[in-house]
Amino acid sequence: MEIPFSIDAGRVRLRHLRPTDLPIFAAYRADPAVCRFQGFDPFGLVEARDFIAQYAAAPIPAAPGEWVQIAIARSADDQLLGDCALHLQAHEPRIAEVGITLAPRWQGQGYASEALQALLKFCFEELALHRVVALVDPRNQPSVALMERVGMRREGHFRQNGWYKGEWCDEYQYALLAADWAAAG
Ligand SMILES: CC(C)(COP(=O)(O)OP(=O)(O)OC[C@H]1O[C@@H](n2cnc3c(N)ncnc32)[C@H](O)[C@@H]1OP(=O)(O)O)[C@@H](O)C(=O)NCCC(=O)NCCS
Repeated sequence: MEIPFSIDAGRVRLRHLRPTDLPIFAAYRADPAVCRFQGFDPFGLVEARDFIAQYAAAPIPAAPGEWVQIAIARSADDQLLGDCALHLQAHEPRIAEVGITLAPRWQGQGYASEALQALLKFCFEELALHRVVALVDPRNQPSVALMERVGMRREGHFRQNGWYKGEWCDEYQYALLAADWAAAG
């Protein structure tokens, strides 16, 4: 049974992934450029189908300590644009980590900004979280720009903090507090 989840925010809608998203989802998740600075490798079709099945009716948020993946769709026609992810920390579920991915053809048009703003609004105004964090490879310029565009603060530069794609990678830690969100109005 699907647990209803749908947030409309400007041009984007956050909703559950659906089996009908598979062709678009599989195409961008198979793209090495999309995966370049992410913790996962390009997906095959079966992996993409299983991934959608796993999250199509998942609770949002997931239990603390587990990630949930959420579709980013275009409000106008519900077409999949990308996905975002939310993880409440196991030891402190008032703190979340988020991630975001857009299919290449939808990048550079402000959709990620609108989706991340909608996810932050959900985190602070619906879930009453205290703090939301995102980790970004400093070489991932579009992601760095996105974090700063939505008002996330760069709190740290962790040197060689993760092993991805066969190398140690630096990470910037970005975060926003509930107080920052409230102050920004
Ligand atoms: C990270 C990622 C989601 C950023 O997406 P993005 O499309 O660059 O971000 P936005 O949606 O905010 O779009 C911003 C661009 O759209 C432009 N834009 C056009 N219309 C806009 C609007 N209405 N509102 C805001 N920006 C708009 C901005 O000027 C900006 O252009 P620029 O890149 O030339 O400066 C995307 O690069 C991506 O999916 N990368 C692959 C996955 C990845 O690495 N994810 C991050 C892991 S930490």
